[in-house]
Amino acid sequence: MNHVELDKQYCWHPFTPQSEWTALEYEPIMIESGDGVWLRDAEGKTYIDGNSSIWTNIHGHSHPYLNKAIAAQLEKIAHSSYLGFGHPLASELAAKLVSFFPETDLQRVFFSDNGSTAVECAMKMALQYRLQNAEPERTEFVAFVNGYHGDTLGAASLGGVEAFFARFRKFGLTVHFVRDLVELRELPDLDKIAGVVIEPLVQGVNQMHVWRDGMLAELRAWTSEQRIHLILDEVMTGFGRTGTMFACQQEGVVPDFLCLAKGLTGGYMPMAATLVTEEIYNGFLGGAERAFYYGHSYTANPLGCAAALASLEIFEQENTLVGVEEKATYLAYKLSHLANESKHVKEVRRCGLIAGVELHTDLAGMGGEVCVAARKYQLLTRPILNTIVLMPPLSIKRDEIDMMVAAVEQAIRDVL
Ligand SMILES: Cc1ncc(COP(=O)(O)O)c(C=O)c1O
Repeated sequence: MNHVELDKQYCWHPFTPQSEWTALEYEPIMIESGDGVWLRDAEGKTYIDGNSSIWTNIHGHSHPYLNKAIAAQLEKIAHSSYLGFGHPLASELAAKLVSFFPETDLQRVFFSDNGSTAVECAMKMALQYRLQNAEPERTEFVAFVNGYHGDTLGAASLGGVEAFFARFRKFGLTVHFVRDLVELRELPDLDKIAGVVIEPLVQGVNQMHVWRDGMLAELRAWTSEQRIHLILDEVMTGFGRTGTMFACQQEGVVPDFLCLAKGLTGGYMPMAATLVTEEIYNGFLGGAERAFYYGHSYTANPLGCAAALASLEIFEQENTLVGVEEKATYLAYKLSHLANESKHVKEVRRCGLIAGVELHTDLAGMGGEVCVAARKYQLLTRPILNTIVLMPPLSIKRDEIDMMVAAVEQAIRDVL
């Protein structure tokens, strides 16, 4: 059997109707290598990685500095347990992460493996903190309609996308879903709420819905007033995508919990971090029964830490954030041109180098067809409903932005 046959015989893909995937006539693309923003498939065709390999890649594929850092760590050790032991790079990485929040209380880092676990452990910490400190009756959460925070059962109970999560509601925690701050303020029994969870500035899975300016700062002020913890899920928005290292910095907001994953390692290794305030951390001190009994075998994996430190160094070496600002302005210009020229574009939503191009059509499945058509023009990305996601690695160059937007334009013309 070749690789595709093996895949169809033995593999099960995420978020994928497998009967369509395994149909005889379906030919999945098998990615074999990558370089910069480019991906190469098994047949040698190249494509721009238009969604940064599901929102993970930051500095491009096969970045020599990142490759070297991982290889250097591999020469020492690939993995050792963080349960009962430490290792130098995890210490350095934790110090580096909290250094983005100087003179604040957000000074403690708990490592895990992916975006879902970053959120999952924030939730468990938020609950346990209440149970063993003040206000144990605060056991419920608030999340936003159409928000997405991952697929483990706890994180999934915060998920506001009905198509994914409705069937699991009865198995999860008590979560109240609100559309905005008006609905949030009107919720009854606020004294039962442990925390509010939000994707700051942009809700990714909600077709790149951009929150209004000032919303996050207002939410922070309100949660502080109500003694409710603010959990920011920056799994997608973190590490420069919105133009600042973290989205919350744009509104001067410091959360009680900050969940990071995807871009943490430059998109090279699965790793996550949940940053928490010293106040919360202190609520777990004072005896074994107060400890946080949570962890994963690969917590603080040394290869992941090496990648994350190297990625943060590249931000400085390559002045990445200054570049993002210029590229985001250019992308905005290109996309506004696309929206003006094409009657098939309903709306373009954008924040930094995160963009969604919503098609003007009532027909379901058009987003998918446009993305398939874009492959002919060397762009790989995925839609969310009828919104085409454009979220390239931050290292994308101007001529590659031109190619990416032209591919979407051509594909829309072909399909609609
Ligand atoms: C905002 C947000 N939170 C959490 C997650 C879950 O991350 P992971 O897929 O690494 O579990 C995602 C994934 O897309 C996300 O966009």
